[in-house]
Amino acid sequence: MKFLNAVFFKFTFIFIVLFSLHGQSQAQGFPESEHRDKVIMACSACHGLDNILSPSNKMSADDWEFYVYEMVARGAPVKPEDMQDIIDYLADNFSTK
Ligand code: HEC
Repeated sequence: MKFLNAVFFKFTFIFIVLFSLHGQSQAQGFPESEHRDKVIMACSACHGLDNILSPSNKMSADDWEFYVYEMVARGAPVKPEDMQDIIDYLADNFSTK
């Protein structure tokens, strides 16, 4: 049993490490800002942050406003007072402006 426990522990450990690395590698594309964590929390609940990183070369500030409202309509956990901060962060960092 000792052996099995050790194997199980190792796999759990490897899984946790890989999982957190995966999350970090996506979040790395997100520049530091006071609103960064808000955006990551609100926008990674249903899909990967790739949905934000990959279309960033064809998004305008207006597009981000549209998408944030669209995602909130789909159930994204964004407080009304955070809406503008999130839109601004996305428009500043992930758009053609
Ligand atoms: C309640 C679930 C949910 C949350 C939270 C959420 N989204 Fe989405 N989002 C979706 C669904 C469903 C789709 C469409 C299917 C997909 O691409 O996975 C989508 C797709 C997208 C797309 C791609 C649209 C396209 O047509 O290619 C963008 C951009 C996007 N989301 C941005 C955001 C942003 C920014 C946030 C944070 C404010 C966010 N999402 C949070 C559900 C959500």
